[in-house]
Amino acid sequence: MKRILLIVSGGIAAYKALELVRLATKAGIGVTAVLTAAGEKFVTPLSLQALTGGKVYQDLFSLTDESEMGHIELSRAADLVVIAPATANILAKLVAGLADDLASTLALATDKPVLVAPAMNVRMWEHAATRANMAVLQQRGVLVVPPDEGAMACGEFGPGRLAEPPAILAAIEAALNDGPLKGKHAIVTSGPTHEPIDPVRYLANRSSGKQGHAIAAALAALGARVTLISGPVSLPDPFGMVVVKVETAREMHAAVRNALPADIAVCAAAVADWHVAPAAQKLKKHGSATPPTLALSENPDILAEISKPGTRRPALVIGFAAETENLAAHATDKRARKHCDWIVANDVSGTGIMGGDENEVLLITGAGTESWPRMGKTRLAQKLADKIKEFFA
Ligand code: C5P
Repeated sequence: MKRILLIVSGGIAAYKALELVRLATKAGIGVTAVLTAAGEKFVTPLSLQALTGGKVYQDLFSLTDESEMGHIELSRAADLVVIAPATANILAKLVAGLADDLASTLALATDKPVLVAPAMNVRMWEHAATRANMAVLQQRGVLVVPPDEGAMACGEFGPGRLAEPPAILAAIEAALNDGPLKGKHAIVTSGPTHEPIDPVRYLANRSSGKQGHAIAAALAALGARVTLISGPVSLPDPFGMVVVKVETAREMHAAVRNALPADIAVCAAAVADWHVAPAAQKLKKHGSATPPTLALSENPDILAEISKPGTRRPALVIGFAAETENLAAHATDKRARKHCDWIVANDVSGTGIMGGDENEVLLITGAGTESWPRMGKTRLAQKLADKIKEFFA
């Protein structure tokens, strides 16, 4: 069983650490908890003890604790040290190498990877001191689950809210996974987009998201840290990854930008090519002389943009091509036009592939074209993930 050492530092978000413990335990990860003096103002040692099922460590100079497990041993007994929430104070202490309480001493003494999930007031997060501290920590290889943006307990608005526990768990699971794609970040887009026409109607397509979700799961199983950006689908969220839910192509575009940098991008979503300027009120049939016409405007091409050369271009960008005729020719053309590395091409002309459980594709890479026989979407996802693994080997 993998085990984390969870350091809970002080902050209103500390209550979310309890939910994190519950989720981690449910996912089969052992948790040893350390509570700082400030953390204890927000959650009790008793709650942490009840949820972890073990002793909660608080004091650097406790003879009882030291006789049970010395602090050096404690700092190394787990596979990963997680600080959630991490206050501006503890981040600064990590940078300076201070060791004036149990938490900071453990963070200094450990020989294991450290993951921090910061939470603080927006001004504190944006302060030059915190910016500089975060840069140093990232340079040292500390893993970071950045805070969310939103309304804060202090009444202000902006980045600084502790990331939600499932997102922190996803980062923990990725850090604990020793698979061949360990350390790689993969962005996967999946599902259709919905482009609203009015408050109740939208333009959409038949994509189910099954293929994209299966690819995200296959990459996570190989140890990649996955951000799945999904349009509206009726599938459950896969475990062990960050899932960002969007509706429109423009929202998907923003979410992909936000998730960069990445090593791998798999654009499996069936992104709508166009959107309309939605009407503020429901369009009425009664009383209008002629049916409304929809004026279409082009959506951003996420795949083409992410494939542009530049420092933020993922090392491997994979696009999908759903075609109803001249599959190989159209897909080869698409690969050249969009400048992605590989194209997975499927013929969607009425064979039950869109929305179905099976897929039959051509994989077009720089090295040539492979024709894959019809198989389940999960199997195909694993085969593609294996190809990605070989690419990085
Ligand atoms: O141009 P077309 O939609 O056929 O290209 C398909 C590929 O491009 C898919 O990988 C799809 O996810 C991606 N795409 C995109 N943004 C768009 C349109 C398509 O990322 N606006």
